[in-house]
Amino acid sequence: MNYDDLADLYDHQYDVYRDDLHFYAGVAERTGGRILEVGAGTGRVTAFLARRGLNVTGLEPSARMIEKGRARAERDGLPLNFVQGDVRTFQSSESFDLVIAPFNALMHLYSLNDQLDAMQNLRAHLGAGAPFVFDLYVPRFGKMNTLRHEGETFHGPEGERTDVFVVQRHDKLKQVITTEYFVDTVSASGSLSRRHFTLTQRYFNRFEVEWLLRCAGFESPRVSGSFQGGPLDATSEVMVFQTRAK
Ligand SMILES: C[S@@+](CC[C@H](N)C(=O)[O-])C[C@H]1O[C@@H](n2cnc3c(N)ncnc32)[C@H](O)[C@@H]1O
Repeated sequence: MNYDDLADLYDHQYDVYRDDLHFYAGVAERTGGRILEVGAGTGRVTAFLARRGLNVTGLEPSARMIEKGRARAERDGLPLNFVQGDVRTFQSSESFDLVIAPFNALMHLYSLNDQLDAMQNLRAHLGAGAPFVFDLYVPRFGKMNTLRHEGETFHGPEGERTDVFVVQRHDKLKQVITTEYFVDTVSASGSLSRRHFTLTQRYFNRFEVEWLLRCAGFESPRVSGSFQGGPLDATSEVMVFQTRAK
């Protein structure tokens, strides 16, 4: 999954998402040391941690997302450190004291081999006892195969208005959700332009993640249903996993 095409839209959609920031900052402040953030994107979490003086490296495959992240670093006067690479294959000569993978970053691992390669590679970059913390959304979806507008409207500096429409398709057997974005911009003079992107996510159930962690050399995780630490239950929107390298 290449986020290059989505990079321009990404910050409009998610820069305001803050539910996870204090949670990851708390984990990182308790651990300290060298932190690896997997799927750092445009640096939404990276910047929050760096602003607190934490030593974080953002691993991100998309050149365009990194470009946006570096623009953020310059704008905010922050020393953000991005490395272009893939969680399955990146290599660093140094190990890390903590790995985090915020906001569904692991949902782009589509096959069992992708998932195991990623987890084993992360395990190889952590010392025994070092924490690995990540969150994934609980699979629960809106109306499929239907064009939806979910309130995403952005107003640009030159009077243009952008509306985001989505169509989602669900392949239950493959545990894959495909989201097509139709991004319509009407300029101040009334001309309409449409961009189209596709996002594919492999969603997870709780116990397969637990097995995956065991197979890759991690301890049984603590699983919460919120960033405040509440239990995972029928109302939870996220699954938060906190484990350690064995
Ligand atoms: C939903 S975004 C999350 C971005 C950021 N963590 C945030 O919270 O805003 C998922 C990110 O994972 C990245 N990603 C996708 N496949 C990846 C892979 N194989 N290895 C590392 N990162 C990956 C994408 O490029 C994207 O930036």
